Amino acid sequence: MQAAATSFVARQSCAASARLEMLSSPLHRGFAAAASHAVSGSKGAVDIHSHFLPEKWPDFVERYGGSGWPSMRHTGSLPPGTFGYERECSAMLMMDGEDFRPVTKACWDIHARLEDLDKAGIQHQLLSATPILFQWHQPPAAALDVARYFNDYLIEMVSFPEANGRLHALCQVPLQDPDLAMEEVSRAKRSGHKGVQIGNHVGPKDLDDEGLVTFLKHCADEDVAVLVHPWDMANPDNRLSKYMMGWTVGMPMETHLSITAMILGGAFDRLPRSLKICFAHGGGAFPLILGRIENAWRERSIARGKSLHPPSSYLDRFSVDSACFGHRELRLLVDCFGAERVMLGSDYPFPLGEQQIGDLVRTSPDLSLGQKERLLYANAATFFGINVEIP
Ligand code: CO
Repeated sequence: MQAAATSFVARQSCAASARLEMLSSPLHRGFAAAASHAVSGSKGAVDIHSHFLPEKWPDFVERYGGSGWPSMRHTGSLPPGTFGYERECSAMLMMDGEDFRPVTKACWDIHARLEDLDKAGIQHQLLSATPILFQWHQPPAAALDVARYFNDYLIEMVSFPEANGRLHALCQVPLQDPDLAMEEVSRAKRSGHKGVQIGNHVGPKDLDDEGLVTFLKHCADEDVAVLVHPWDMANPDNRLSKYMMGWTVGMPMETHLSITAMILGGAFDRLPRSLKICFAHGGGAFPLILGRIENAWRERSIARGKSLHPPSSYLDRFSVDSACFGHRELRLLVDCFGAERVMLGSDYPFPLGEQQIGDLVRTSPDLSLGQKERLLYANAATFFGINVEIP
């Protein structure tokens, strides 16, 4: 940490925002030279989208019965090869006793994670549950118990002294019961969580459901930032079951479906502007389907749902992460949402994550230095309330 380093959050102001814009101006080459170090060096970058899994956890099946419980297998044969970030398989994530997917020790091993972050020049990372841990199909009391267990585990994990304040927690909640979810998100915030990660739907309920909107309003009232992650992907006629299309096609579809449901269901009209909500995976294909939704909104009254305004007027109500994996796609995100609404997100430590965390933003031929600063750390510092030391 350099002596001259300043806290980004501490000096958040209109002036600071203006400075970020000025960085792209050739009139401010001195500032730009300093910022260049921030963009290319190890200082400052915040990865808002990563996952953890504990090495093991209590036998919830024994405690609660039922199905759909994950567990971890560390013995027996494990598949050869690497499964993200050049790491070998360390365990098999199981579902109801069947192999589900290979995982690496970076899911739970802080040293492995910090090594990968150092290699990629990432100063801060937010950790959230792998959605399989949510258990929203279980009785609410069981899901609350599970959420408390994993939330407390995660706080211990990010508080590990060697993490030196670089790792931050996003909690999980039993969202099938909004009252319990509100209780747990408040408890988690008091214990140090920086926000909450939720799945993009609860069974047939989208984020415009009355109970879910009540939960989101609670998050706004308590200043809890929300990361929406796709999960429980629709799979009509099993057509997404091959070639990992559940992940490559189903997850983005879930994401833009959720954004659209929030808009047309009037959720943003009912929620305060202070709600901080971010959608993973660049918002799915939302930037591409926005024109279509907008046209339908204007041409057919039934396509308006309950929304008071055209869909494009809600673009300033939410953010997205940068997990889109291509310069053309990143340019589209910034064109659509604005550089102030896109944050670095990798999906670490899984094989479908950005393997060189932050490189897509850093090497973008389209973004100015000021825009890169916003995506790499400035937006996240404000959104999640993280103190980012910049040179
Ligand atoms: Co993810």
